[in-house]
Amino acid sequence: MNKVLVSLLLTLGITGLAHAAGDLVAGQNKAAVCGACHGADGNSAAPNFPKLAGQGERYLLKQLQDIKSGSRQVVEMTGLLDNLSDQDLADIAAYFANQKMSVGAADPKLVERGEALFRGGKLEEGMPACIGCHAPNGRGLDAAGFPQIGGQHAAYVAKQLTDFREGNRTNDGDSLIMRSIAAKLSNKDIEALSSYVQGLH
Ligand code: HEC
Ligand code: HEC
Repeated sequence: MNKVLVSLLLTLGITGLAHAAGDLVAGQNKAAVCGACHGADGNSAAPNFPKLAGQGERYLLKQLQDIKSGSRQVVEMTGLLDNLSDQDLADIAAYFANQKMSVGAADPKLVERGEALFRGGKLEEGMPACIGCHAPNGRGLDAAGFPQIGGQHAAYVAKQLTDFREGNRTNDGDSLIMRSIAAKLSNKDIEALSSYVQGLH
């Protein structure tokens, strides 16, 4: 093989690796400051702070980049990521992705409505079922960037769905995946879905 091609392939391979691979041991130290809100192992106690434990690594890294760049606004984290490099963010994502998310409980009164929406969507309004992307157990599909929502705090989930609906969270890409879905959800739908996913595993 020609030398230029070999070195090109090597460069591509190495850059790809350096970008993809987070070091979870290094990440644990770098994540110490996050524990105050998100919990040392990523299982936060307060329901407005999202659990990061067991969340998809690719999804976590994307959110960290979006929060750092300001394309997703998290006022509580203002300035916190400014001095962290891409490698730092990748290491932190690897650390939290390798923890285990705890599961909450659903309100029994809301399960029927929540489950019907989660599994069936609102086909008459063209709203797809959540399971298509977030999976029946809420695990998501990290390779596609679909986050885990099973076990996540209901209060946090409700805020995200409301933020997508009101246009306060806009980092779901040019296809507006979550904004167009949330546009079809009433407050009662959001309450039922959020409670349902909190107990899902
Ligand atoms: C002062 C509290 C606080 C601290 C400290 C903090 N965060 Fe956050 N973080 C939040 C809040 C609140 C949100 C959710 C905001 C919202 O409602 O959209 C959030 C959201 C996130 C998200 C998005 C989660 C998701 O499911 O989309 C990630 C990832 C994250 N934080 C990582 C970190 C990391 C890494 C650190 C440490 C470097 C950190 N946070 C420090 C409060 C904090
Ligand atoms: C076509 C795929 C798709 C479908 C269907 C879908 N989602 Fe999503 N969802 C996504 C993607 C992609 C993201 C991440 C967007 C980003 O990168 O910020 C997301 C993010 C979310 C988040 C934010 C998670 C977090 O940690 O902040 C919640 C909550 C959510 N979806 C709930 C739902 C619910 C409830 C339904 C059904 C009513 C649903 N989604 C249907 C693709 C989908």
